[in-house]
Amino acid sequence: MCGIVGILGNGPVAGLLVEALGRLEYRGYDSAGIATLEGGKLVRRRAAGKLKNLEALLAAEPLYGHSGVGHTRWATHGKPTAENAHPHRNGKVAVVHNGIIENFRALREELKARGHAFESETDTEVVAHLVGEALAQGLSPLEAVAESLPKLKGAFALAFLFEGEDDLLIGARAGAPLAIGFGIGARDGEIYLGSDAIALAPLTDQLAYLEEGDYAVLTRQGAKIFDAANLPVERKRVSAPVSAFLFDKGNYRHFMAKEIHEQPEVVGRTLSHFLDLSTGTVSLPFELPVDAATLPRLTISACGTAFMAGLVASYWFERIARLPVEIEVASEFRYREPPMEKGGLMLLISQSGETADTLASLRYAKAQGQKILSIVNVPTSTMARESDVAALTLAGPEIGVASTKAFTCQLALLACLALAFAKARGTIDAKEEARLVAELTAVPGLIAEALKREPQVELLARDLSKARDVLYLGRGTSYPLALEGALKLKEISYIHAEGYAAGELKHGPIALVDSDLPVIVLAPRDHVFEKTLSNVQEVAARNGRIILISEPEAAHELGVPAEVIALPKMAPDFSALVYAVPVQLLAYHTAVFMGKDADQPRNLAKSVTVE
Ligand code: F6R
Repeated sequence: MCGIVGILGNGPVAGLLVEALGRLEYRGYDSAGIATLEGGKLVRRRAAGKLKNLEALLAAEPLYGHSGVGHTRWATHGKPTAENAHPHRNGKVAVVHNGIIENFRALREELKARGHAFESETDTEVVAHLVGEALAQGLSPLEAVAESLPKLKGAFALAFLFEGEDDLLIGARAGAPLAIGFGIGARDGEIYLGSDAIALAPLTDQLAYLEEGDYAVLTRQGAKIFDAANLPVERKRVSAPVSAFLFDKGNYRHFMAKEIHEQPEVVGRTLSHFLDLSTGTVSLPFELPVDAATLPRLTISACGTAFMAGLVASYWFERIARLPVEIEVASEFRYREPPMEKGGLMLLISQSGETADTLASLRYAKAQGQKILSIVNVPTSTMARESDVAALTLAGPEIGVASTKAFTCQLALLACLALAFAKARGTIDAKEEARLVAELTAVPGLIAEALKREPQVELLARDLSKARDVLYLGRGTSYPLALEGALKLKEISYIHAEGYAAGELKHGPIALVDSDLPVIVLAPRDHVFEKTLSNVQEVAARNGRIILISEPEAAHELGVPAEVIALPKMAPDFSALVYAVPVQLLAYHTAVFMGKDADQPRNLAKSVTVE
């Protein structure tokens, strides 16, 4: 979490730093701050809350320095106050940090014993004090950083700015991403540090990514990179274009709304990348890193919404490809120490490709001799780089913190993957493949149809906004979707919600059902449709308020009062891709009606790079 940026500019950098932080706000928005060199002196501006507070502070108290660092924070250690906002400084150094310094307590005690006084509750401040102390002892900035880094345990990316050093930035990476950007054209001679390509997008697309343990010394002449053993290394310069127009909300009030509405296009784009629509066959643009025909088991791990996508897909892999699947949230998987048969396949799913727990699961599986296939939305991400094969969802940048289009694109890609496995394992013949490909091909159109239910969903959302608790129910692939619906509602409206397998209702949660409890039922016409309707009867018998998302005739078949969001008739296999849409819209409109910030819900961040 947290976004960091550093600039050695040809002119004042405060405005550029703030703009870059704006593009990094998806990594956290609890506070923001910058430090620049004003006549060689380190000066900071920091503000609690969203970036606009820092902008207001800078308007009142501007900075003019040509070199600086900036930070947008997702609080881990210490409340989101101005005192805890980065940059942190000690003596002649200011530092911004993304990650966690795990041994900060011990370091803090040691530093206190040597007379250091701390002004924040953060883990980061110890880094400033370690480097500040080394500088005060007469070490050069490079020596001070090189001496301090081995003392830090944890995952971090750091950027340092030094008093009296207008032509120097130092960056370090250990477990959190950091890129060097090189100014081009009108910005020739400038050089940057940033958490990712998005931060640096309008400044440059010429990047070099630091690798684990690297640190780099930047001047306007260029960058010198050293590895963990302090040996000079070269890191390849790559072109990482990120189109700036993608960060525009267009006519939408929120990025989340724009991203929900982009789904017919981006899901279509993703599908056409993994299917051959002219022949009606699945056609992966890469070789699978294992023999799919003989693979004994597929292991899947991911976090949050990406995990729900994996859970939906586990039904497809098992039913269509007859492939046994083990699936686990990454935060548990990484510490379970599961034995893994050599040569097995580990599938990781992540929008950002930077999620700390998912990345740790990837590394664990690799060490266990697994081949790694990851599904990511950011091609330059750490996960993409550390995988045997990285399959890209073509969702485009997702800015809304609550994942929407990345989720459906993950599902689209996973569906194609399940078909590819099924084909290789001989569990589907050419006719069945053509039938399933045709079903998938219809999905973008069905999503567009589902989006037309928005006015009705908006009205229902007004009602939902009054609820204290909401229950989501589904069976089969609608079960993970029920979990996803509950997650989406919780995270952006702050209404308590739970997702349940509809068949589990009678094993406990039915005790919650009364006339105040909205129960949202996802019931595509699949092989468990009748079973789901029976569970709805159990809710009706206890006066629960039913919102049924299903096909038009379902209301009649149900025979009890219910609000119905009627989706078009569809073949059931991949209905999760379409049923996701009303679920997202319902959460979005509930949050908006309640006056919540749907794009930047409290306490959350887009890229969770801490465990
Ligand atoms: C919820 C949401 C999160 C992410 C999770 C994993 O709307 O967006 O639950 O899905 O933090 O993030 P990625 O996919 O970047 O690994």
